[in-house]
Amino acid sequence: MAKKGRENTEEFDDSRQNEQDDIYDIHQAALRERPLPEEGTEIGPWWLYAIILTTFAFGFFYAGFYFGEFNYQPHQLYLTQTESEAEIEQVELTQMELGENIYGRVCSTCHQANGEGVEGAFPTLVDTDYVNGNVSRFAGIIIHGLYGELEINGVSYNGNMPAWGEQISDKEVAAVMTYVRNSFGNNSSDVPIDSVKSYRETFGDRTAQWEVGELNDTFLN
Ligand code: HEC
Repeated sequence: MAKKGRENTEEFDDSRQNEQDDIYDIHQAALRERPLPEEGTEIGPWWLYAIILTTFAFGFFYAGFYFGEFNYQPHQLYLTQTESEAEIEQVELTQMELGENIYGRVCSTCHQANGEGVEGAFPTLVDTDYVNGNVSRFAGIIIHGLYGELEINGVSYNGNMPAWGEQISDKEVAAVMTYVRNSFGNNSSDVPIDSVKSYRETFGDRTAQWEVGELNDTFLN
């Protein structure tokens, strides 16, 4: 339209008018356009807000209902807890109590709760030289284990007792020895931790299990 107008003046004015209208229309159209939304600033759908609100409401309801009372002095609770923990630690088990505990956890599976074992499979611990005799030899059986032919109170065994030296401390070895030596009808002296320590000093480098013959050659009864 504008191009045609340049050819004669009469039409030119008219076309100027048209051109202005065009510009006006174009700008009007441009003004109606909304700016392109920037990424990240769009407003989400209403139901998303509804879900978020419901989730929070449920969360608070749940916490209030099930978490017990909110404590306004949480540090007090902490103090009383550590106090009672300290009290528990102060309760020292006697050697017999600790020994009974270890026996129940470690030895009773095989040698049974009454110490009598299972004939032909696990030898009795009642009235045997290995239990009531040489303390180092007994410590050796627990710490390094034992295998090979063995006769206990007239019954033959050829079993395999695993080593416990890695799992239980010297204190616990001494305690379980003391317990066994004073239970099930046995009545022998308590075992001081130092006896176990001196065994470890001498045989600490050893990794092999004791074979019955080797054990008896190494330790006199
Ligand atoms: C996995 C089974 C098993 C466990 C656990 C076990 N022993 Fe034994 N124990 C045996 C076997 C089997 C023998 C016999 C080994 C052989 O035949 O040479 C034996 C032998 C012995 C002996 C020498 C024989 C005797 O009856 O006097 C003593 C002492 C002994 N065990 C003490 C203990 C003590 C104490 C514990 C716990 C710290 C313990 N054992 C844990 C299986 C076990």
